[in-house]
Amino acid sequence: MEFERVVRKRRMIRAFKPMPVPDDKVRRVIDLAQHYPSAGFSQGVAFVVITDPERVGRVRELNRLRGDAPVLVVPCVSEKLYHDRYHEADKLRPDGTEIDWPIPYWHFDAGCASLLILLGAVDEGLAAYLAGAFRPDLLRKELEIPDHFVPVGVVSIGYPDYERHVPSPSLARGRRSSSQVVHYEKW
Ligand SMILES: Cc1cc2nc3c(=O)[nH]c(=O)nc-3n(C[C@H](O)[C@H](O)[C@H](O)COP(=O)(O)O)c2cc1C
Repeated sequence: MEFERVVRKRRMIRAFKPMPVPDDKVRRVIDLAQHYPSAGFSQGVAFVVITDPERVGRVRELNRLRGDAPVLVVPCVSEKLYHDRYHEADKLRPDGTEIDWPIPYWHFDAGCASLLILLGAVDEGLAAYLAGAFRPDLLRKELEIPDHFVPVGVVSIGYPDYERHVPSPSLARGRRSSSQVVHYEKW
């Protein structure tokens, strides 16, 4: 699909048809998502792909997910991998100390990877919806995620059911205009 069309078509869809998603589609979405950019190429993001219906049900319940998607993906990120990477010789400051991290790049990178999942799903003729991870501790336990990784959200993936889809009430806020958010040359 053309890139602009994918971007404009992507919406958080929270109703899905009761149809399984072929494994190769899921694999392509996840393969693509691994091409997110990462600070220092730290690659601190990992993905838990869930298709077992019972586990899908448990995760849906513990994260209070709307919708009934057959596939869930939980993007996780390890802050530790960033500190490890930024202790390598080419990333240490001249005085041998680690940078101050004015921006937590691990969250930034997890967002980039998550967006690729959302866009990749649309490109495969699917729809997806990202919910925040409300109980990271419960997700970690259920999915046996290592301690130094934190699950940042849960992405539901499936075939969209536009008839049952209820758009988020948040959309009533409207999209902010370019003049409000884009500043040329200076703010
Ligand atoms: C980090 C993040 C967390 C979100 N969490 C939820 C959520 O928990 N539940 C939900 O229904 N939507 C969630 N959303 C979806 C937003 O409400 C949605 O992206 C926004 O209303 C704009 O709609 P659109 O993505 O369809 O354009 C989340 C989005 C982001 C980026």
